[in-house]
Amino acid sequence: MIGKPKNARDKLVLPLDVNTMEEAKELVTELKDYVGVFKVGLQLYTSVGPDIIKMIQDEGREIFFDGKFHDIPNTVAKASANLVKQGVTFFNVHITGGSKMISTCLKLARETAKSCGLERPKVLGVTLLTSFGQRTLTEELLINLNIDDYVSQLAKVAKKSGLDGIIASATDVPKIKKDCGDDFIILCPAIRPTWSVVNDQIRVVTPRDAVRAGVDYLVVGRPITSAKDRVSAAQLVLDEMQEALEEVAR
Ligand code: C5P
Repeated sequence: MIGKPKNARDKLVLPLDVNTMEEAKELVTELKDYVGVFKVGLQLYTSVGPDIIKMIQDEGREIFFDGKFHDIPNTVAKASANLVKQGVTFFNVHITGGSKMISTCLKLARETAKSCGLERPKVLGVTLLTSFGQRTLTEELLINLNIDDYVSQLAKVAKKSGLDGIIASATDVPKIKKDCGDDFIILCPAIRPTWSVVNDQIRVVTPRDAVRAGVDYLVVGRPITSAKDRVSAAQLVLDEMQEALEEVAR
């Protein structure tokens, strides 16, 4: 089980945002020496099913199942138990599902892992989707807080409910570390090297700045998967992360 990875490769998470097993296998085979964790989201899982987990395991890599569970406690706990049996390393739940949903999920995940002789996956909390802005929060959800305070409150609920970490924008890391402590795992999407295009991401941060800020896992997708030479792009990201790791260690 990995908690706080030390080297660049183990910190790099590559999303398999594709529809077929063939495309996923091509990415995993090509990039497995450069990537510690492959992220499987709803797009791929609803297309190919649990075989995707087995394929990545057979290639010797860790899996982050990005299913963002949000349902009544019993349903989330039972679905989580199924993921535990499949041997994923990470999965996530919406913190807005509440502390009861989170603690029920963690309890059954722990029991299931024990009875299967496996380690319990790390469970990460989703705060507010980046597709939400202040206007949606205020006018649709009638939440009378600014986004930063709302995210900070959800981070505190995540920590108090026993989650292992959180998915956040790298720009929020100092605040999360202050609220939740240094051992809380922080996984960040929207990472963009200076040489890549930003796509639809907002509040992007470079791999160097993410590592400097203390991000544990960096999700880097399109800068690598859309590159003409994916291996060279992955190596460039790793080099940048490694330099920053050495700088931080000095
Ligand atoms: O690096 P790239 O933008 O291609 O990464 C996209 C991946 O990161 C997708 O799998 C997406 O679901 C995930 N993600 C995100 N923004 C968030 C949370 C997750 O882009 N706030």
